[in-house]
Amino acid sequence: MKILMVCLGNICRSPLAEGIMKAKITAQNLDWQVDSAGTGNWHVGELPDRRSIAIARKYGIDITDQRARQFTSEDFHTFDWILTMDHSNYRDVMRLAQNFNHQNAKVGLILNEAFPGNEAEVPDPYWDDNGFETVFKMLDDACEQLVNQWSEGH
Ligand code: 4NP
Repeated sequence: MKILMVCLGNICRSPLAEGIMKAKITAQNLDWQVDSAGTGNWHVGELPDRRSIAIARKYGIDITDQRARQFTSEDFHTFDWILTMDHSNYRDVMRLAQNFNHQNAKVGLILNEAFPGNEAEVPDPYWDDNGFETVFKMLDDACEQLVNQWSEGH
């Protein structure tokens, strides 16, 4: 299973999603690959936001090996699942899809894949220092659910 976490800048939300998911699959001895990317290119090459690094560290996860990169249409071929944080990320990813039906099936909102039906978004915490704790918990719950769901049969 190859999973790509996608947000706008690849410095706040998707690096947390990548770090959390990697910690869970390591704990479960699952042979999955996880990466993250941003739909925008402003932060390419940068470390995750210091507030994401801090909240991850608080929960025992080191994300300082990550560097931001931009999502490309190649990612549709590389990954089995492309999990976006909000509707805007979803639309930006789908704009790059060439084989719409096939690629559409791989792309979802992370919270909707974990907890179907509510179309919930992981809010962008960039302008809200206090948002990082909430974002961490949302992603932790979602990744826990997805690992439980997908590890049956893999
Ligand atoms: P992220 O947050 O998409 O969770 O990485 C953002 C980071 C930077 C910007 C926007 C969102 N920005 O506009 O620079």
